[in-house]
This record gives sequence, C-alpha cells and structure tokens, in this order.
Amino acid sequence: MGFSYVNDRLFCQNVDLAAVAQKFGTPTYVYSESILKRNAQVIKNCFIDRGVQVSYAMKANSNPEILKLFRSYGMGVDIVSAGEFKMAQHIGYKAGEINFAGVGKTNEELTLALEFGIDHFNVESQFELELLESRAAILGKNASVLLRLNPDIDPQTHPHISTGLKKNKFGMSPELVRHLLTHAKDYPHINFDGIHCHIGSQILRSQPFYDLIDYLALFTADLRSLNVEIAHLDLGGGFGVNYMDPFEDILETTPYLEAYVDVAQKKLSQYQLHIQPGRVLVANSAVLLNRVLGTKVNGDHYFVVIDGATTDLIRPALYDAYHAIYSHQKRETSRTGDVVGPVCESSDALAKQRELPEFCTDDLLVIASAGAYASSMGSTYNLRPLSPEVLITEAGEMKLIKRRQSFKEMISLY
Ligand code: LLP
Repeated sequence: MGFSYVNDRLFCQNVDLAAVAQKFGTPTYVYSESILKRNAQVIKNCFIDRGVQVSYAMKANSNPEILKLFRSYGMGVDIVSAGEFKMAQHIGYKAGEINFAGVGKTNEELTLALEFGIDHFNVESQFELELLESRAAILGKNASVLLRLNPDIDPQTHPHISTGLKKNKFGMSPELVRHLLTHAKDYPHINFDGIHCHIGSQILRSQPFYDLIDYLALFTADLRSLNVEIAHLDLGGGFGVNYMDPFEDILETTPYLEAYVDVAQKKLSQYQLHIQPGRVLVANSAVLLNRVLGTKVNGDHYFVVIDGATTDLIRPALYDAYHAIYSHQKRETSRTGDVVGPVCESSDALAKQRELPEFCTDDLLVIASAGAYASSMGSTYNLRPLSPEVLITEAGEMKLIKRRQSFKEMISLY
C-alpha cells in the first residue's frame, strides 16, 4: 500500500517510480490510488456514516479522477471560483452536492451558481449578501445561505493559512452575523440556513477545533434565545497531516477525528453538521518525481539542482513548509544542503539545509506529500509547462490523469 522501498528502490504500490519517470518524464506527480481510497474510507467512516455531510474542498486538488473517486464515497464538493464550479459541473455533480465558499464572489459567479441552483452559498460579507439578494431577485430564485462567522480563534498554524482570527480577511464578526440573522426579512430571496466557520489549515492540535465547537454552542444558544432558527453548521476543514513521516499510515489520525465528531455531535446536537476537508484526503497520496540535473557547491553551501521547481510545489517557498525528500535509489551516505529548482529566484528551493541522501546527476529525487496544494497551486512562471499527474491504480496500471502542458498550448494564450 502506498509508497515504500522494495530492494532499495522506491515504489508506489507495485510500480517502480523509475518506470513512471521513463514513461512520462519528470517532473511528474505520482498518486497512489490505494492511499486515496483509504483516506476517503476514513472520512466516510468517521463523518459520512455518522450523518455529517462532507464537501471535499477541491482547491486542495481538483483532478477530475480524484473528484470522481471522492464523489463515489458520498462526498459533495466545496468550490471557490467559477473555474471550480465549471469543473464540478464537468464531473457531473448535482446542484445539491455543491456549496460555494470564498471571500469575494463576482456577479457572474453568483449568477452561474444561482442559475444552476447549487445547494448553498457560504457568504462572507454584507456586500456579498446584498449582491446575492439582488441577483436572486432578478432571476426569481431563492438562495440558501450559511453565513461565515469569524470566531477569532487561533488555529495555531502557519500565519498564512490561519483564517479564523479577527485580523484575517475571512468571515464576519459575531455581531454582524447576529444582526443579519435577526434581520432576515430584509433579504426576501435568501434562506438563512446556518453558520459556517473555517479557522485555518494544517491544524495539528485538537484544541482549536474544540474551542470552535464550544464557541458555536454558545453562539447558537444565544441565537435561539433571540428566536432565530437555523438548521446547519459547517465546521470547515483544516485537519492536519504528517509531513515529517509522510509514508506512515494516516490511520493514526482516526481516533482524533472520531473524538472530534463525538464531541461536535454531542454539543451541537440540534444541527445538521457539515465539514469541508481538503488536505487530509490528498496530501500524502502523492509524490513529486524529479530528475537531478547536477550538484554544486557555492562557498560552503551544497546544492542539489533538480528539474522540478516551486512552479510544481510552492509550499516550501511560500510557507516555509517541510516536505520530506527521498532518493529513488536508497543511498547509504548523506550530505547537508539545499534542493533547488531551475527557476530564477533564490526562493526557488524545495528544501533548505537538510540532511539529504547523496545525490548524483540523473538520479530520481522524490518529494513527498505532493497531493495537496501542489499541482493545484502550480504555475507556468519562466514559461515552464504545468507538470503531468499519473495515478498508480490498484491494478498496478500507470494511468495518466493530467497530461503535461504543451509549449504550443502555453504560447497560444498570447
Ligand atoms: N474550507 C475553506 C473555506 C477553506 O478556505 C479551506 C482551505 C478548506 C475548507 C480546506 O482546508 P484543508 O482541509 O485543506 O485544510 N495552500 C495552503 C492551504 C490553504 C488552505 C485554504 N483554505 C497550503 O498549502 O498549506
């Protein structure tokens, strides 16, 4: 299952990663179907089977094969743009399986989603609510809305992926949410169905999640005392994964998820609960497979230069994120240095001051945890084509699930 060494060579399930590189070139993202299925099963057991509605946050990875797989486990989809909406439609999600989140939705985006009749909108500001009301009135539709509340809870994660603090741009203050809910009649085309919170991403401590549950228990009690009735609470995503030991079993996180659902269902028992996980489903299901172009020394700094770059995986440059590095061919010796890409920026580093296996030119260098916010955050900076994605199926087939962008495609935009 997943990624492991077989005779000192790194395999994905029963496929040698060298075979993937030979067939599809590098850099390439390689996904394990068995890990994707196991992750989906964990989320199904912990949440869906216990009555919690799950919308997969497609921003983590919007590959159609992955979306179809998760949908087959009963997950809806959380979208944040017209592009993600079009992808959801393309996959065949029904209107009732889609919710639309995001801090700034355009007139066109709201109209598209209203016309399709999506399940609900997670609204983040009064101006958005007013725009939605006016669009809905023009179209003669009613929109279901969960108001996104900013609870000012510290998720204890990287500042760039913290979203539930007052200083973050997300959601509305509790005062404004209360005000809007007690003035629902001012919005005749809006059904105020509930409240949504998402406090951050890659949250490894359980306390912030419990703080959120307690906060919502108090907030909803207050609403009930004001005779405001809502039916739905969306607790967002944010479950963290193990980047340090990415090939370890995800199942170690199951007790933490189960305990969380138990507490949420006990303390918020009047409500239909929803979650929107992204990362936990995909992060450790894939690696980025790269070719070593060469090694060099500048002063006392040692560098391994690869053909993959921050254009394929921006997380280390953007968040100082740790991604484990492996050599496809196991090495006995190691050397401390940086793994860098060819992009013309000093920040184009995938690992810094790391003890690395001793790499040589033409070796395959594998960067782990490349399933979430990797391909989906890819760019064509330096006119580097977007890299392909290969799924290793349970039957051992190497299935190309996104092809490498061609130079022609890139140039044709201009
Ligand atoms: N719901 C909302 C409203 C969100 O904004 C997000 C993520 C999610 C759900 C899914 O969160 P997850 O379960 O994946 O933590 N690019 C960053 C992460 C950005 C997360 C943005 N919002 C990274 O690579 O760490």
